[in-house]
Amino acid sequence: SGPAVTAVRGSLAWFSDDPFLTSDDRALEYVEDGLLVCRDGRITASGRYGDLVGSLPPGTAVVHHRGKLVLPGLIDPHVHYVQTRITGSYGEELLDWLQRYVYPEEVRFADAAYARSCAALFCDQLLRNGTTTALVGCATFPVSVDALFEEAARRGMRIAAGKVLMDRNARTDLLDRSPIRAYEESEALIRRWHGVGRNLYAVTPRFAVACTDEMLRLAGRLWHAHPGTLAQTHLAENREEVGQVRELFPDRRDYVDVYDHFGLLGRGAVFAHAVHLNGREWRRLSESGSGVAHCPTSNLFLGSGLFSARAAKDPRHPVRTGLGTDVGGGTGLSLLETMGEAYKVGRLRGFPMSGVGLFYLATLGGAQAMGLEGTVGSLAPGNEADFVVLDPSATPMLAARTAESETVGDLLFALGHLGDDRAVALTYVGGRVAHERGPCRDAEG
Ligand code: GUN
Ligand code: ZN
Repeated sequence: SGPAVTAVRGSLAWFSDDPFLTSDDRALEYVEDGLLVCRDGRITASGRYGDLVGSLPPGTAVVHHRGKLVLPGLIDPHVHYVQTRITGSYGEELLDWLQRYVYPEEVRFADAAYARSCAALFCDQLLRNGTTTALVGCATFPVSVDALFEEAARRGMRIAAGKVLMDRNARTDLLDRSPIRAYEESEALIRRWHGVGRNLYAVTPRFAVACTDEMLRLAGRLWHAHPGTLAQTHLAENREEVGQVRELFPDRRDYVDVYDHFGLLGRGAVFAHAVHLNGREWRRLSESGSGVAHCPTSNLFLGSGLFSARAAKDPRHPVRTGLGTDVGGGTGLSLLETMGEAYKVGRLRGFPMSGVGLFYLATLGGAQAMGLEGTVGSLAPGNEADFVVLDPSATPMLAARTAESETVGDLLFALGHLGDDRAVALTYVGGRVAHERGPCRDAEG
């Protein structure tokens, strides 16, 4: 246990709005010499050091992160902890890769001990990379969910996760035995974990290809029966997948309509990838308040396609959008490295993003996609006290690049291209240090 009040001094940066819909200047809050004050796991004040230091309770120790940037904890709205150990496995495109690497690995998560060791590794690596909130896919086995929630609760992290629902088109030892049994197992997990510590349950149909109509129907019913839970699935990642969905659901007008039909759209529902969508689908995602996770390292690794941030952020029908790693389809848990790839994908699609835009996606954007804005993803008072301290001179390359950097926008842009876990000096969860980068060896670059 630590002190009730934590005060951190440094350069504060967070977002009060969506820069894609306003402007970088209007959306970014930046306080060069700032103070962040936390009490009982929440942010109680954030502003200029000179304005706030006088009102601290007597005896409060101020930790000074001189020359470093303090930002909201990063948010990964799409990642599979059960695929941590198959990241970077050579294969063909999505459907072949799932059968060859993903499904055999996920079968191992019927074993509670294996699940626990992977969950511990995963949570530690999230924190090392500055990620404090994630929306996580587990395996079909309830013990795989127990393991993750136990490790997340131990670290005090705000994690949303759920048991994968799947009842066709995969090896039988991974499939649910029936939709109703999957429903009951999910409901038992909701009772056991939702709202325990900071854990949130997420109803998790794998994707339409692996779910029968009945499974999707029950997934929608389960989500609606438990307000406050999230929903997550995959959407239009790969062209062959989209073709299969068209054949499996001939009565639906498109892929979004499949999930819509079963009641799976809405605030708190996150759709990963969203690479191959038509205009109607983007509009439906927007008007329903659904979120999408842009997963550039995965989409490049699996050759899935190039996400259109321009379509997602069309001011006529903007969609809540975050930046996901999609490990193990994605190639790493670092959202800083993921930003670099998001920029390159945007560049190829004629929609290059600023450093402000990239960091927005990895913080407030992710929170909005998950329906958690006001809770995480911001340094505004009232939010939970999850934040990262980034070191713009963590490596020789970063130090050289940022030495004469004159704007915070440029600093953020550089961190989004040259940064990785070495740039994460500290990660705070609930106002307490949950990770501190080791000295020297890491700093050598
Ligand atoms: N579609 C269905 N399952 C998966 C998965 O595990 N990873 C990715 N990237 N896409 C999927
Ligand atoms: Zn995925």
